[in-house]
Amino acid sequence: MITETSKYLGRSFLTLRDYSASEILDLVNLAEELRTKKKKGIPVKGCEGKNIALIFEKTSTRTRCSFEVAAADLGMHSTYLDPKASQIGKKESIKDTARVLGRMFDAIEYRGFGQDIVEELDKYAGVPIWNGLTNEYHPTQMLADLLTIRDNFHYIKGVNLTYMGDARYNTGNSLMIMCSKMGLNFCVCAPKKYWPQQWLIDECQKNAKLSGSVLKFTENVDEGVMNADVIYTDVWVSMGEPDRIWEERIKDLYPYQVNMDCIRNASVDVIFLHCLPAFHDLKTEIGKEISEKFGISEMEVTDEVFESRYSKVFDEAENRMHTIKAVMYATLTGKIHAV
Ligand code: CP
Ligand code: NVA
Repeated sequence: MITETSKYLGRSFLTLRDYSASEILDLVNLAEELRTKKKKGIPVKGCEGKNIALIFEKTSTRTRCSFEVAAADLGMHSTYLDPKASQIGKKESIKDTARVLGRMFDAIEYRGFGQDIVEELDKYAGVPIWNGLTNEYHPTQMLADLLTIRDNFHYIKGVNLTYMGDARYNTGNSLMIMCSKMGLNFCVCAPKKYWPQQWLIDECQKNAKLSGSVLKFTENVDEGVMNADVIYTDVWVSMGEPDRIWEERIKDLYPYQVNMDCIRNASVDVIFLHCLPAFHDLKTEIGKEISEKFGISEMEVTDEVFESRYSKVFDEAENRMHTIKAVMYATLTGKIHAV
């Protein structure tokens, strides 16, 4: 018999492909419980004295801070390994790193490049591995997005989510998996070359059959935003991609910028989500560089939408912490209710 404890204890969190709809819902419910407890100042027991390693081969604000704050709230100690300061990859293989860190830590978070790296860590570390973003997937982001959507609509099945931009990368792929498993209708609104890979679409179509979700792919913006309850976008060039692709991305994706016309043509209660960071003004170094080079002052989302009442991006960012705490708590204690 699978008990509540044996189902989550010691389990890695590499991609939502490995988690069932009811398990994803368990984690979101746990995150909501943990959020309530934190806001009331009630401590949560079970992880005190544990040690976790946070490997970041790419930069981060939200994910790193979420892991560190959540670990501290749970009484754990975290060690941060930054993109330059460790031996990982340069002098020591992932397999060896996994076997070293697995001897010292109770769990390991990894943010970086290929999904094969988190899989390799998982194979050799002997402790849970949490994916803090790879090129292919961003599973902890999805739990925060789902919680934010439920906070706003009070239901998730049947919510229409439209993703505008490069849907072949971590965020787009993961949103399609999440929506197809959880019964949200998912629309990719982008030029065809930015649609997810066919094998993943096929897998998600199977999920969708079970959950009642409908997947749609369109190049037409009016069609894409029509009836959207959630409009979601992400940066046009992801971490690790070469600078030379900016020109092509701007040309291809500028027509898919989330602006007030998209909001006006969507459902009346539409909300705007973005995993962040976002290029919505000229207050960043890259934003300024791109503006000087290509003459655009806003990229994937206009400042008007970003700052509007439709935008829930900071609730979404806060929910990163509560949901990451849920993943850590469930996989380290086996419990799916906060005690
Ligand atoms: N959304 C997200 O992963 O943000 P960071 O890159 O700041 O961690
Ligand atoms: N697609 C983005 C997500 C950042 C959270 C990237 O990989 O840079």
